[in-house]
Amino acid sequence: LNGEVPKDQSLDNSLALMQEGYEFIRNRCRKYGADLFEARLLGQKVVCMTGEEAARIFYDNEKFQRKGAAPKRVQKTLFGVNAIQTKDGAVHHCRKMLFMSLLSPEGVNQLKSLAEVHFQEAVSRWKKMERVVLFDEAEVILCKIACEWAGVPLTEEEAKERAEDFSAMVDAFGAVGPRHWKGRRARTSAEEWITGVIEKVRTSELDTRQGSALHSWAVHRDPDGEPLDANMAAIELINVLRPIVAIATFITFSALALHEHPECREKLRTEGDEYKEWFAEEVRRYYPFGPFVGARVKQPFTWQNYNFAEGQLVLLDMYGTNHDYRLWEFPEQFHPERFRDWDGNLFKFIPQGGGDPAKGHRCPGEGVTVEVMKVCIDLLANKITYEVPEDQDLTYSLTRMPTRPQSGFILTNVE
Ligand code: HEM
Repeated sequence: LNGEVPKDQSLDNSLALMQEGYEFIRNRCRKYGADLFEARLLGQKVVCMTGEEAARIFYDNEKFQRKGAAPKRVQKTLFGVNAIQTKDGAVHHCRKMLFMSLLSPEGVNQLKSLAEVHFQEAVSRWKKMERVVLFDEAEVILCKIACEWAGVPLTEEEAKERAEDFSAMVDAFGAVGPRHWKGRRARTSAEEWITGVIEKVRTSELDTRQGSALHSWAVHRDPDGEPLDANMAAIELINVLRPIVAIATFITFSALALHEHPECREKLRTEGDEYKEWFAEEVRRYYPFGPFVGARVKQPFTWQNYNFAEGQLVLLDMYGTNHDYRLWEFPEQFHPERFRDWDGNLFKFIPQGGGDPAKGHRCPGEGVTVEVMKVCIDLLANKITYEVPEDQDLTYSLTRMPTRPQSGFILTNVE
């Protein structure tokens, strides 16, 4: 049966993955006219799949698990070793409920208010600067917001360095060589810092609000009733801080979208909150950030004539699904209004994973991401004026993962 499923003939596709990046899975699915194909990556057989139906299968907890899916190199940079991304069943559920409650509508509102204050404050600084690199600025601001909200002490002097560490962890996920090692060093240093903070909470040296992310992770217990060791608690707290800093990428792409589609600026001014939301959603759909996500087959099943064997590694194409012409009309066009009739299908629009976040691994931070993006979109479109100098490189590569506009989006003459 498996003979009917396309097998990429190359001995190993690792090089092709590096060369094609975000488009690797989509290119092959298109070539074969199939939703899935078999390949070899880093010496092992992998099934790559794309589209809504594939996402539905991938997020079925009976069929897939995360145990053994994330390579150590990703755990040692992006996720943290043995973090929620690698857990299944009761432990996953227990930790996920804490993430979900921290990022409830109340948490989202607090973060949104902090974003309004901090980004507004930044404008007075930007006015005095000759060139503002939006990506770099946004990372530091978001790091301050994240720490303030979470209850983690952060001095003005250390904000930049801490932000750079969180950024380097994300920047390492698709990297080999120096970028990977930079991410590893950044993680070691961030874990040391946050582990120390958790320990101080536990010994009552540091007072922190009950209900804050810091306090919650310091006292969290897994279903076995044992508290997490201080390093594990730090890793999960970092799983809240680091991705808030990563919203800088979508903020930078939002600025690019505004620049590339000036017609949207007028609508952002006149059409109110709904249009801002569509704009933010379209940025998350159209521009590349998360390429794909991996899991292992929990028990054998057959889909599209392919026998998925227990333990088999499977990659789901997030970028390609968000650009699937069967799901999106003119997917290569940036068109915020497409979200006017959005049916809320959790397997079609998957910029931060698919399915119901409360039941599986989908990102619990989408609400925060969209609200913080909207604050920045409003700022850029309606509250300030600026120029976008031509002597900068606004292109972004689809082969570097993660990617962003090369110059980080430079603004001048901010008023
Ligand atoms: C999981 C993307 C922002 C916290 C994920 C996943 C992706 C993702 C692709 C994995 C989904 C899966 O494994 O199936 C993004 C992107 C963001 C973002 C592109 C934009 C900046 C956030 C924010 C937070 C957050 C702001 C928290 C404040 C998490 C956590 C998980 C996760 C804790 C693990 C969930 C689990 O394994 O159950 N995110 N995320 N993310 N994200 Fe996000």
